[in-house]
This record gives sequence, structure tokens and C-alpha cells, in this order.
Amino acid sequence: MQARDPSSCAVRARGVEKVYVTGDTQVVALRGADLEVHCGEIVMLVGPSGCGKTSFISIIAGLLARNGGSLEVFGQDPQRLSSEARTAWRLRNVGFVFQQFNLIPTLSIAENVAIPLILQGGQRRSAVTRGAEMLERVGLGGREGSSPTRLSGGQQQRVAIARALINAPRILVCDEPTSALDGATGQRVMELVAAAGRAPDRAVIVVSHDDRIYHLADRIIHMDDGRVDRIETPAHRSSHV
Ligand SMILES: Nc1ncnc2c1ncn2[C@@H]1O[C@H](COP(=O)(O)OP(=O)(O)O)[C@@H](O)[C@H]1O
Ligand SMILES: [Mg+2]
Repeated sequence: MQARDPSSCAVRARGVEKVYVTGDTQVVALRGADLEVHCGEIVMLVGPSGCGKTSFISIIAGLLARNGGSLEVFGQDPQRLSSEARTAWRLRNVGFVFQQFNLIPTLSIAENVAIPLILQGGQRRSAVTRGAEMLERVGLGGREGSSPTRLSGGQQQRVAIARALINAPRILVCDEPTSALDGATGQRVMELVAAAGRAPDRAVIVVSHDDRIYHLADRIIHMDDGRVDRIETPAHRSSHV
């Protein structure tokens, strides 16, 4: 069968299932989650704690294996790739902001931001310079030599966002990216995040309950109990269509 034009759809997930097995216990995290994200789109993913948001975005980003359903991210199913090819695919295509930031304490923050470039074979010195430039864009100019352990939670969150943006990812996935940020900083950083999706070959998925950033979203995807159960188009978007 001829595949549909992959450029029209950034993410196409159908019936995605995820079961965590720990010893004798099974937790069903996703029970048939469906989602399409269009190219150039910024979607917010909301829903109660434990409904499967982090599991779903980790699967979309190729960080976690699913147990059922289908997935295409810019025409690629990450699960069909070998582990090495998947890592390379992620480095080229995916930016991920972890809820817990996942910064490396023994590296400076500029080095942390530069990691995706270095892992792709970039020269260390120029990668760190670009890391410092990206830090400036998230309001951390002049701090590039600091260890993450010297920074506040909000500052660490901005480092994590800078690291996710550094390779100009086609798909940027953020797990609660403004939870530690004050109003003005959250707004500024989210504008950077949203700008990363505003291109025909890009898209952004943001897990957030932060209503300060709703106005940046094209659609709000509501999840409940392991499924997408409602999709909302905010008034400021529906008035244009
Ligand atoms: N590594 C794991 N092992 C076992 N259960 C997990 C794991 N990660 C998540 N879960 C469970 O899966 C469900 C969905 O979790 P999660 O995707 O983190 O939801 P959310 O991000 O919406 O809070 C929850 O019941 C959670 O406890
Ligand atoms: Mg979560």
C-alpha cells in the first residue's frame, strides 16, 4: 500500500497500548490512545495525574516501547528501528524536556545543552559555544559555566528546555515544562517552545496544566484513563476557521 504523504501529519498514533509489568503486578497505562498532530501544530496534552500522559509522549518520542497499536512520527515508527538507529533518529528528530529535567551534575550547563550536538558527532568546543548561545535565549546568559546543582529549579528547567531545542528538533515534546517557572519566565520560554513548532516540518506536544500557555496551543488534547477522550480547539483558534 502506498503510504500517505508523511509530511501532512507529524504524529499519527492509533490504538496505542502500554502495560507496565512489575513482578506479578500489571498496570495498564494506555488502553487505545489515538492522536494526530499536524505539521506546524502546537498541541497541549492535559488530564488527571496517572492518566498516561508521560507514557504516551515517551512512546511518541521513541523513549519507551508500546505493547500495541500503531505509531508514525514523520512517517517513521521508532519501534521498528534497531536500538542504535532509534538513538540516532531521536538525536536528529526529537527534543524531549523531562519532567525531572535529567541534567548531568558533573557537566556545566552549557555542556549539558551541547550534549545532543556532541552525540551527533559535533565538535565539542563549537557545540558548547552554541549551548551557551541557547542558554542566552532562555535567559541564562552569563551562567554557562555553572553546574546545574548551583541553579534553582526554574533555572534547571530552562537548561532542560535549551537542551531540547539545541538540535532544532522536528518534534519537540515537553513534560510539564513550566512547572517551576514564574509567570513572566514561563511565558517567554513557552514562546520559544511554540516557535519551535511553527514550521511546516515541525510540531510540538506540551503536557501542561498551565493555563498561562493555553493561548499558544492550536488544540488541547484531553486524556483520561489511558485514552484521548476529547479534543478541544480553543476559542482563539476556532474563530479563525
Ligand atoms: N515505570 C512504571 N512502572 C509501573 N507503572 C508505571 C510506570 N510508569 C508509569 N506507571 C503507571 O502508569 C500509569 C500512567 O502513568 P503516567 O504515564 O506517568 O501518567 P501521567 O503522566 O498522566 O501522570 C500510572 O498508573 C502510573 O502509576
Ligand atoms: Mg506525567
